[in-house]
Parts: sequence; structure tokens; C-alpha cells
Amino acid sequence: MRTTITIIKCDVGSLAGHHVVPKPILDIGERRLKEAVETGLINSYFVFNAGDDLELLMVHTRGENNEEIHKFAWDTFKEATEKALNLKLYGAGQDMLKEAFSGNIRGMGPGVAEMEIEERASEPIVVFAADKTSVGAFNFPLFKIFADPFNTAGLIIDPNMAGGFKFEVMDLKRHEKVVLKCPEEMYELLALIGSPQNYIISHVWRARDNLLCASTSTTKLSLIAGKYVGKDDPVMIIRAQHGLPALGEILMPFLHSYFVEGWMRGSHWGPLMPVSLKHSKCTVFDGPPRIVGIGFQVSNGKIASDDNGKPLITDLFDDPAFELARREAISYTAIIRRMGEFEPARLSAESMEYTTLPKVLEKLRDRFRPI
Ligand code: F6R
Ligand code: MG
Ligand code: MG
Repeated sequence: MRTTITIIKCDVGSLAGHHVVPKPILDIGERRLKEAVETGLINSYFVFNAGDDLELLMVHTRGENNEEIHKFAWDTFKEATEKALNLKLYGAGQDMLKEAFSGNIRGMGPGVAEMEIEERASEPIVVFAADKTSVGAFNFPLFKIFADPFNTAGLIIDPNMAGGFKFEVMDLKRHEKVVLKCPEEMYELLALIGSPQNYIISHVWRARDNLLCASTSTTKLSLIAGKYVGKDDPVMIIRAQHGLPALGEILMPFLHSYFVEGWMRGSHWGPLMPVSLKHSKCTVFDGPPRIVGIGFQVSNGKIASDDNGKPLITDLFDDPAFELARREAISYTAIIRRMGEFEPARLSAESMEYTTLPKVLEKLRDRFRPI
């Protein structure tokens, strides 16, 4: 049977700054998605937050880019924005870039990752959501998970993975995409995705049978709006086990922290910190950029649930095994923030064109004289 996993996220407003989604907003997500199950639009759901982003995870059988599903998510964010405005939450509706819904939520502000799959005998799924960073933040772990044999032992040991994986890479500026196969084209792949501001991995397939195994959100808000309008705060879906990377191989890249773009004012590089759902809130210098991960089973078009219908969700970074990465993230924070507004702590001048910095520089324009 074909099942679709959809995660759609949006910053509709947050508490005490760009920090965390408060309960009344999560409650709106919870109520609306419960109703969507009752009306038969979706089969199951899980509502959570990544920092200031409201995350709607939905499992259904309507396929990717389904207008009803996208409109439903848009209307949910609209209602949540109303509430955020009533409470005067900070940044209310900041990612709702368009006035009215027009068929597909892509390009309208909210981020989307979707995957339509033929359910295997057992279908373990991992969903990641990050805050204070942007879409290229997943290039590094996706490469490690699906192409690096020092990360994923299955690439060497499991004959089902021996043919390697294919990566779809999007060129965000030229609006083009290319598919590269590893291990044969590993160097070319790295040549592209090592620039995560320009190239992002959007899908991964197992090469021998084209089994779809990873899908990421690809929205770059600044490129839609032409200016700084907030973070892209990406999401991704990965299938695990049985001829695909094991859950532990998918989590392995997060043993260490690594640097991502998009911290404070969308203008800085910062260390990514894996955290539990409980610690999914941004503090120091509006961060450090954080990532949460949840695991579940997709079963007969639904998220496998307990006897009361409650989805069985595991909070993957709620584990002392990630203390090292958290400690690294904090110590990298202390190191890089000593640099203040000097590169490479701040993004390159080219990337800063999409921030509020040009407005500041504009004031000096008339004072420059030829050398
Ligand atoms: C927003 C974000 C924050 C803000 C910063 C300034 O998603 O990541 O770092 O850019 O807090 O926000 P304003 O200009 O709204 O005061
Ligand atoms: Mg925000
Ligand atoms: Mg955010």
C-alpha cells in the first residue's frame, strides 16, 4: 500500500522572542490535526516544535503535493497566526509570506518535506527538524549517512546497500537539479554539497532499485522574498533499516556538533546542537542552532500507536549519548562568538546581502570617495 509522510512547518509566532512555540499554539495544531483524522483527511499525526517553529507531521494516503493536505496545513497556520496575534506573540505570522493559498504550500513560506512510499514489511522512519539554520544544514549528515563507510557500516557489510545511493542536488540560485551516484561520483557530490548555501540535497534513493529513502525541505525564504525574512529551519524524513542505514547509522553524524549557517539574524555560522523535544528552545545568541529527531513506525497508512490511539514516538536525542555533541556545541559557541561580527563567525558578504546589513551600509553610500 502507498502511504505518504508529510511534515510541514512554520514559524507562526513565538514566546519571549524567537525562542519557543508556546502551548496555546501547539494546542491549535493538536486540535486541528485531530479533526483532520476524524474527517478522514489524514490517518495519524504528531505535533511538536523545533524552537520557534510549529511542526505538523501527518501520515495519509493522498500522495505528495496534495492540495487538500497543503491547504489544511496553511489554514492551520492561519488559525495559529490569529492566536499569536491575539497574544501578541513575537514574530506572529513571520513565515506566512503570501496572502492567500494557491494550490501548493511550497514557495509560500512554510517548509515541507514529503515522501510517498510503498510500505515495507516493517517501516521505521526518522524525522529531523532544526531551528536557527537553513536548508543546507542536512548536506553534511546526509552525506555521512548514505555515502560515508566510516559512518555507515552497512555500506561495506550489507549486500543490499552495496550498489550505493543516488543523491538529488538542487542548485538554489539557478533553480536546477542534478542526480549524482555514490560511490562513483562521490568527489563531484562533495564538490557541490560542500557549499550548503548554494547546493542542497533534496532526495536520496537506493541505487540498485531506486527506493526513495530521504526527502528534505528545500524552501529558501530569502530567495522567495528577495530579502531577509527569517530562517528556513529545515525538516527531513529518512527511512531506516533492512537494506537502508540503521537507525544508529542515521544518528551517528550527530555524535559530534558541526557548523551550520543561519544563526542569530540569519547572519552567522553556528554549531548545531542535538537536543530532546524538552530542550527544543533557542537561548544563547538565539541558539545555538538546534536539531530534534523523532522515530516511529509507519504501519498500514498510519503511525503505529498504542491501544488508546496515541502514536508511538521516540525522542531520539533524549539520550546521554549526545552529551558530547551538546558540550562541543557549547564550547564551539564560546569560541566562535569571540569573533563577534568578524568573518567567518558572520556569513560572507555575499550572503549578508539577504540580511538587514545592506540597510545599514546604505547610509554610508554618499560618504565614499574615489581612491
Ligand atoms: C529569527 C531569528 C532571530 C532573529 C533575531 C532578531 O528566526 O533567528 O535570530 O533574527 O532575534 O529578531 P528581530 O529583528 O525580530 O528583533
Ligand atoms: Mg522566528
Ligand atoms: Mg525558527
